[in-house]
Amino acid sequence: MRVVLRFDTGYQADAEELASSLHIALLRGDQPAPAATDFELQLGSAGLSLRQLSIEQAQGSAKQRKKRQDNSTADIRCDFIAGELRHRRLFGGGKNQMILKATGLNKHKPSVMDLTAGLGRDSYVLATAGARVTMFERQPIVAALLADGLRRLRCGGDEQELAIAQRLFLHRGDSLDCAAALAEQEAPDVIYLDPMFPERGKTAKVKKAMAFFHHLVGSDDDAAGLLPLALATARYRVVVKRPRHAPPLGDVQPGLCFEGKSTRFDIYPLKKMPG
Ligand SMILES: C[S@@+](CC[C@H](N)C(=O)[O-])C[C@H]1O[C@@H](n2cnc3c(N)ncnc32)[C@H](O)[C@@H]1O
Repeated sequence: MRVVLRFDTGYQADAEELASSLHIALLRGDQPAPAATDFELQLGSAGLSLRQLSIEQAQGSAKQRKKRQDNSTADIRCDFIAGELRHRRLFGGGKNQMILKATGLNKHKPSVMDLTAGLGRDSYVLATAGARVTMFERQPIVAALLADGLRRLRCGGDEQELAIAQRLFLHRGDSLDCAAALAEQEAPDVIYLDPMFPERGKTAKVKKAMAFFHHLVGSDDDAAGLLPLALATARYRVVVKRPRHAPPLGDVQPGLCFEGKSTRFDIYPLKKMPG
């Protein structure tokens, strides 16, 4: 998979640092991307975003690229402040959200480890409800997008958003390698898992964005290995998010399920939560 980083004027130093950490090529302003480029990261005043390129897009003129950008629905970025997540924070059903019931956050404020953070959407919802969330993300580009979203939340958010940002911690790397060592210092109350699963999403726009994400991340074929780790590490429960009709992770039956229209939360209780 070939990825390049394009930066706007004024972002050269940050772009150089990022490109060197991701081992990818840098492109300035309107420089065409090399043929066979799959993805283009873009760094500018709006932060970091990712676009999937077709061959013509990679090679087209700056004007053609701009036109396609304007029509694109598939750019990926991590936005905790302005988009859907803000709306969900303000109007999204509060404690009744299924993810909060599943993690016990409707009654408690446990510490959570999210071993498959992705773009941090679920972690953000948990942190909004008061949890302290340690996130793990192993795909370096996804981790860079998540780090950028967190940086903008810390720098551009209001007081409440700043408090949420202070409850979110990111570890770049494979949770299979480092979660247990970290938990030796302080075991998390809850471990949350949401590995990739094929055919998720409903609307055409969601499907397109998910297909794009799948191309980047792959299908997390080793996901079943996360469950024994999580069960050995969490204090009170492990929660796994699955598509509604999918088999349970690793075919291990949960103790309890919460089912929504398209999603299911499988709960593996270990001990009763105090209080
Ligand atoms: C479906 S996405 C998670 C979406 C996330 N719940 C959200 O709300 O944005 C799954 C993510 O888990 C990551 N992942 C899978 N296995 C992992 C592991 N062992 N360690 C760290 N990250 C992992 C993948 O790279 C992918 O970005």
